[in-house]
Amino acid sequence: MKNNIIKIWLALLFSAGMVACADSGENPIVEDPEEIPEPSLENIKLKAKFGIGSAVTNSELNGQYANTLSTHFSQITGENEMKMAHIWKGENNYDWVAADGMVNFAATNNMDVHGHALLWYNSFPNWFRNANYDSATFETKIKTYIETVVGRYKGKISSWDVANEIFNDNGTLRRDGCPVFKTFNDPIAFYGRCFEYARAADPDAKLFYNDYNVVLASGKRGAMRQMVNRFRENGFPIDGLGDQFHYMVSTNRTTIKNGLTDLASTGLLIHMSELDIRINVNKDDNFVYLPSEQAKHAEAYKDFVTFFESIPQEQKFAITTWGVSDKRTWLTSWWHPKEYPLLFDENFQKKKTYEGFLEGLQ
Ligand code: XIL
Repeated sequence: MKNNIIKIWLALLFSAGMVACADSGENPIVEDPEEIPEPSLENIKLKAKFGIGSAVTNSELNGQYANTLSTHFSQITGENEMKMAHIWKGENNYDWVAADGMVNFAATNNMDVHGHALLWYNSFPNWFRNANYDSATFETKIKTYIETVVGRYKGKISSWDVANEIFNDNGTLRRDGCPVFKTFNDPIAFYGRCFEYARAADPDAKLFYNDYNVVLASGKRGAMRQMVNRFRENGFPIDGLGDQFHYMVSTNRTTIKNGLTDLASTGLLIHMSELDIRINVNKDDNFVYLPSEQAKHAEAYKDFVTFFESIPQEQKFAITTWGVSDKRTWLTSWWHPKEYPLLFDENFQKKKTYEGFLEGLQ
């Protein structure tokens, strides 16, 4: 990062010098570096002292979309492509096309990849679900899956969400639609062993537990803390915790700040892992994204980033936005068609939210 900033500085100084030489003939004027705006202060990736990620869709990795990503972000996450159902088509049938595409894009553009997600109740493929395996068979197959996926991308995917959304907001384990819950007497121990399988497959990859509403729901946070304590007691590895951060412009700031502080008191890395901020909070069919709304939105981004900056520096893993531009966001189907939750508009121009994000960075 530092190197990049120095390189950009040198390039700017050099080109400024060239212009000065050309203008003044024989006596080159040495420009005062103070007069050249420092590029890092205008770009979230360059300014941040931690990862700046975005969820991406492999099929869109070209043109303006790709340029925006490589200019403003330092890491990518597959929005869907690394989920189990997208990769694991049958017991011995893995589809790597999209995941490979993203990993190659990241390598070409010198970006990190955060893998999402090895285990998510919502993405067990139907062939696996319908098999109704006993717990031993279930675990053998999942172990092979984790070894195969994490092993394939060893050294190329630097962090993984090993498990996603296993708790309800009140801290109980998710039951509905969760094959792990119905198969194991002690699901937490199973998840612990899965973290162990991932660690063995790539000892350098950072391993995360990820969930939503974490900073809002103290019950869920308590369950996560208990899980972390149990992992520590039993020697299961875990490096970090993610809160998805699918919040709203109206979400209570004090609750977020206190929840984030509480989460960081685990001492683990913290990932704001799927950040988007809903602005059309009332699902208003006539909503207009007026400048006043945009200003309010920018303020929310600034506050959220400021809260992230307030946790200990060594625990700041990354902030990942769940998409690049308002042109395509999961919220227009999941929430409301009139929704504008991200940092770039549908023409990939920086929004006021980008400025808010930038202002929140230290
Ligand atoms: C969402 C994707 O954005 C959608 O495209 C897909 O249809 C469903 O999944 N929490 C998560 C993400 O952990 O994986 C989800 O992503 C959004 C909620």
